[in-house]
Amino acid sequence: MRKNIMLLGLLSSLLSSALFSVNVLAATPQELLKQYEAQAKQENPSFAGFSADRGGVFFKTEHTHSTGQQVSCATCHTTDPRKQGKSRANKVIEPMAIIANPQRFTDTAKVEKWFSRNCKDVLERSCTAQEKGDYIQYLISLK
Ligand code: HEC
Repeated sequence: MRKNIMLLGLLSSLLSSALFSVNVLAATPQELLKQYEAQAKQENPSFAGFSADRGGVFFKTEHTHSTGQQVSCATCHTTDPRKQGKSRANKVIEPMAIIANPQRFTDTAKVEKWFSRNCKDVLERSCTAQEKGDYIQYLISLK
């Protein structure tokens, strides 16, 4: 009897952790957009949707870093996100456009990790939900 209860407890914790990780990690770019939309509405009550055009401008705009360096998302991801990019250490970065790389924007934790890191790198602040959504919308829109 006791053994059964323990087994049941183990099973249910396994199951819930499996469900939890599926919920947290796996996504489609469209599901991610929904999450950022909810956040964007909280950040800005007059939020009026995401724009691929604005995302494209955001992607390519050069910012003068406090170190004096000019940097944009395109610095590493290239001005054509359908192509491979390069990190500062010269490592290949696979394309960002969904059409060229269907793995993109399918892992919430990975997406948040790199937004956090790269927005600090380029803008020296976090990206807003509006900026993240525009960026994803742009990468979805490329054919
Ligand atoms: C210094 C180089 C560099 C710059 C500049 C850069 N990135 Fe990246 N980015 C990377 C690397 C390296 C990875 C991780 C490798 C990979 O996923 O192929 C990455 C991955 C990402 C991912 C993960 C996407 C996914 O689903 O796999 C996002 C989101 C991202 N970058 C957003 C941005 C944004 C937004 C900017 C501009 C504000 C930016 N990056 C600028 C190097 C850069």
